Amino acid sequence: MSDITVRALTEADWELFRSVRLRALEESPEAFVAQHADEEQQPKEFWTERIARSQRLLAEADGQPVGIASVGSVEDQPDAAQLFGLWVEPSRRGSGVATALVRAGAETAAAQGRHHLLYWVGTDNGRAVAFASGFGFRPTADRRPMRVVSEADGEEEIAMDLPLAERFGNAPRA
Ligand SMILES: CC(C)(COP(=O)(O)OP(=O)(O)OC[C@H]1O[C@@H](n2cnc3c(N)ncnc32)[C@H](O)[C@@H]1OP(=O)(O)O)[C@@H](O)C(=O)NCCC(=O)NCCS
Repeated sequence: MSDITVRALTEADWELFRSVRLRALEESPEAFVAQHADEEQQPKEFWTERIARSQRLLAEADGQPVGIASVGSVEDQPDAAQLFGLWVEPSRRGSGVATALVRAGAETAAAQGRHHLLYWVGTDNGRAVAFASGFGFRPTADRRPMRVVSEADGEEEIAMDLPLAERFGNAPRA
């Protein structure tokens, strides 16, 4: 299996970000709130502003994009960051891409001084929940309605929490 590298995208990478993001929305519409048809029409400024708003992490193998994730801040929770928009190219699933992306995301959050990495995931998204549990995220009591437009009413997302102290060296203040 080829080596996987993860790098943070900059505004100059907006076309690459756009193409991977649109591929994710097209391939896994049930996993994301946003819709491919809406984002496909957006101008360059939409993508450059979006890259700047959060840390965008791109996984590559042999110079080709194989996965993406984002890390952003959490309203009213300065000690936490959140992971979102996680997606791995289907042919690469089960090969460590998600682990490499989330490790980079946790390192990013720890370097920002955060103590927790939160991840909101659909309770029906078995593979994503299994991945997050295997990585070390713990389920919390927080739930919210799933915001995916095409899903039937009643589906939920659960907040999973990764404490950054143990593996990523950022312990909460006493
Ligand atoms: C979620 C996602 C990023 C995980 O990446 P991945 O490469 O598939 O993850 P892995 O294969 O490393 O881990 C998945 C785990 O689920 C298990 N699994 C595989 N298929 C499964 C299924 N259908 N149901 C439940 N668990 C499953 C695997 O055995 C593995 O568990 P393990 O680590 O204990 O062996 C990827 O599946 C994906 O891009 N999905 C579509 C987009 C998405 O749902 N994103 C999350 C919402 S933001």
